[in-house]
Amino acid sequence: MLGIIGGSGLTQLANLDVSHREVVRTPYGEPSGPLTFGHIGRHDVVFLARHGYGHTIPPHLVNYRANAFALQSAGVTEIVSVASVGGIRSDLGPGVLVVPSQIIDYTWGREMTFQSGGDGPVVHVDFTDPYDEGVRRRLLDAACKLGECVKDGAVYAATQGPRLETAGEINRLERDGADIVGMTGMPEAALARELGLPYAALCVVANWAAGRGDSAHGIRFESLEAVLHVAMGHVRQIIDQFCVKP
Ligand code: HPA
Repeated sequence: MLGIIGGSGLTQLANLDVSHREVVRTPYGEPSGPLTFGHIGRHDVVFLARHGYGHTIPPHLVNYRANAFALQSAGVTEIVSVASVGGIRSDLGPGVLVVPSQIIDYTWGREMTFQSGGDGPVVHVDFTDPYDEGVRRRLLDAACKLGECVKDGAVYAATQGPRLETAGEINRLERDGADIVGMTGMPEAALARELGLPYAALCVVANWAAGRGDSAHGIRFESLEAVLHVAMGHVRQIIDQFCVKP
């Protein structure tokens, strides 16, 4: 079963034929909200709004462990994460969709592992390629079939938030090799890996990152909503197509 974690701009999946909602408790506390079960075509899907259905949970307070654990307990076998990001690379401006291939983690102070120590040997998961290549390919193929232009590959910088970055920080991220920047990609991806759940992300560039493009002198929040609204329409179509041919 496919799990979809929706971020800013995607708190509901209009194309999901909902069967029921379920409040799930986990040993790690409460997930961001009830899980929404349903179908897209004949494909079973569970949807979870990362920031809560009313978008009330900031990125640093999302219970990433509870979310991943709850999805797996519900029978999810793979996860597609939808997230909005800022664009750093010159071809990744507002409205562009991208399936990232790498992550650099700048977050701190988040509960970022299921290993609490003391209860069994330490396990180091391999994270060389943080996203599952099979799920990535299927996302890209789904987009391609629709004629949607989705970029294949980008380095995602996960920042702590909730504030946006300074222009200096974005310059540093670029020197580090980052192409896009967001606040929720980690520890979500690593926790999915610890659980053995194939995981990939479909990112929507909502704005130029600080100091770039029309964000040269600040990020204009007025335009974000419109960009996300249009782009999430494309995301829904891609997810539909993804579910048609799993
Ligand atoms: N920075 C971090 N996270 C984001 C941004 C950004 O510019 N845009 C959307 N999410």
